Amino acid sequence: MVKKQVSSSIICEILEKVLASEYVFYTKIRNYHWNVKGENFNDLHLFFEKQYEIFDVVIDDVAERIKQLDGFADATLDNFLKNSLISEDDKKLECSDMIKHLTFDCDKIIVLLNSSIKKINKFDDFGTIDFLTNVLQKHEKLHWQLSSMLDKK
Ligand SMILES: [Fe+2]
Repeated sequence: MVKKQVSSSIICEILEKVLASEYVFYTKIRNYHWNVKGENFNDLHLFFEKQYEIFDVVIDDVAERIKQLDGFADATLDNFLKNSLISEDDKKLECSDMIKHLTFDCDKIIVLLNSSIKKINKFDDFGTIDFLTNVLQKHEKLHWQLSSMLDKK
């Protein structure tokens, strides 16, 4: 039981990093949804909306997974910014830069999720591994969609 408590707190720590990164990622997509301009406005406005809806659900699920493991889902913007692997933009972006930034961030989250799954694998927590693998697949799909937008060939 003590061993399980220790592993749960380590897993919660890993999930807190995922939660913070997903939250900043989600906020960035909302920012792009609101501020995108140009001839592709309608397509990108709707694309970003679809994506932030997907990652809104992911955020809630990560926080609730932390609660299932008896952790604390620290939902403060201060904590999210401190713990996030994803940085906020420091200026307004053109739509092509929005796509580039999201591709870069998506890549970072894919690396984070892969390393998180590897770490959790040591604790045989197959529920959390399966859950994070599902989140990983969402990022891999988005990464493919974004890369396809950038592909000029
Ligand atoms: Fe909207």
